[in-house]
This record gives sequence, C-alpha cells and structure tokens, in this order.
Amino acid sequence: MRKIAFTNQKGGVGKTTSTINTGAGLANLGYRVLLIDMDPQANLTYSLKLHSNRLEKNLYHVLKSEASIEEVVMKHTSFDILPSSIELSGAEMELVNVPARELLLRDALDEVKDRYDFILIDCPPNLGILTLNAFTAADELIIVLQSEYLALHGLSKLMDVIQVVQRRLNKNLEVEGILCTLYDNRKNLNREVVGHIRDYFGAKVFNTVIRDNVALAEAPSHHKTIFEYDGESNGAKDYQMFAKEIRNGH
Ligand SMILES: Nc1ncnc2c1ncn2[C@@H]1O[C@H](COP(=O)(O)OP(=O)(O)O)[C@@H](O)[C@H]1O
Ligand SMILES: [Mg+2]
Repeated sequence: MRKIAFTNQKGGVGKTTSTINTGAGLANLGYRVLLIDMDPQANLTYSLKLHSNRLEKNLYHVLKSEASIEEVVMKHTSFDILPSSIELSGAEMELVNVPARELLLRDALDEVKDRYDFILIDCPPNLGILTLNAFTAADELIIVLQSEYLALHGLSKLMDVIQVVQRRLNKNLEVEGILCTLYDNRKNLNREVVGHIRDYFGAKVFNTVIRDNVALAEAPSHHKTIFEYDGESNGAKDYQMFAKEIRNGH
C-alpha cells in the first residue's frame, strides 16, 4: 500500500483537483483507493457525490479518537473518501495538549492499511498540525505547482518543514515528485515557468504536466470526477497518464 500526500501551502494550485482525479485514474486501473480530505474547507468532500447519510461524522472525529475510519468512510463510485468538515479548523487549537498530536492520522490509518492499494491525502493550504499529520502518515509527497509566475515562491519553507518531518517524525518520507498543473501551452510564461521548474528540480518533475482545462474546473460543481464528467477531455487524458506514471514509480 502506498500513502501519498498532495501538498503546497499555497491555495489554488490544483491539490484537490489532483488528489481526486489521480485517485479516480488509479481506480480506473483497478486499484483500491482511499482519498483523505485534510482541508477544513472540505473542497474535496463537496466536489464529489457521497453515497451516505452519515456526514455528521468525519475526519475531525477520527483525529479526536471519537470515531473509527470505518464509521466515517464514504463511497464514491469507484473509490472511498474520508470526508472533512469545517469542524477540523478547530483541530489546531484543540489538539494542542494531545500527546503525539502529529501521529494521529498515521495511527488511525493502521486500521485500514490492508484494505487499499493507494491512500491519497489532500493537504490544506498551510503548514500547520493537519499538514504535519499528513506528512507523518504519508510515505510519499507530491508537490503541486501551478505553472505560473511565483510558482517556486515559498517552496524553501515547505522544504524546511519536509526536512524537519523526515528528521523527527517520519524517516520514510520522500518527495516522490513535482507535478505542474494549470499549464497553458499558448502562454510563453507558462512554458518558461515549467522550464525553470525542470532546471531546478531535474528528474523530480513528473513527465506528465496537467493542462489548463475548463472541464476540470466544471466537474466539481456536478459532483463528478473528470472521468465521469468528460472522459474525452484533456483533463481526463492528463490525469489518466499521471495515474499510470504514479503506478509505474517515478
Ligand atoms: N488543470 C486545471 N485546469 C483548469 N482549472 C483547474 C485545473 N486545476 C484546478 N483547477 C481549478 O482551479 C481552482 C483551484 O484548484 P484546486 O484543486 O481547488 O486547488 P487547491 O486544492 O490547491 O487549492 C479550482 O477552481 C479548480 O477547479
Ligand atoms: Mg484544496
């Protein structure tokens, strides 16, 4: 089983879109997939149709040891989801006095580790306790970068946090790769930025680049993955290719 967190402390770079559609792409390949929504804004949770009436319990209750993952997990058509809610925004403060509060997600996942081939974690846009929980639970990180000016801005802070986690909390954690998203081939600037990112990170950058594609932005309001919304779109092609790149190892 592989546990992969999609991260960048910036919002709007494509983390949630990538978590959902990479997960759906891996499910298309026949894998058992769980998506975890670590963001109190719960964008991932609300972007999908969840077949359950139990929304009153979510990841917040799991982290507080008030529910098991099994009680909280919901089913999408081809994968499972551990939903989030705004209640999670209080976690930062509420968990202050909990011992080993960085390990809560990792320990909770032990319960389900034989049930999935891939667990994908959608991180919130900050480097607080929820992100630390994601980094401690994961084996692999995918850093999501928007192919725009300032894409690399703030990245040294993220790298510092990753190093601290590797040293103190999770020796197994690796940066699996860098995923460039929202790429518009018609814009010189986008091409230049992706060039810079490749110069800087070399082979760490995934071959697949996710193009700017309006269907990807529309699918969430229909509560669908890109494959359900428009299987012929560039977004579907890019995320299916990316899922294969992940499967094959980078
Ligand atoms: N490749 C893409 N093409 C077009 N729109 C995209 C693409 N990726 C993401 N979006 C849209 O951009 C916005 C931010 O993406 P999101 O995945 O929510 O970012 P994050 O989780 O990093 O905040 C959303 O409205 C999303 O639908
Ligand atoms: Mg998000």
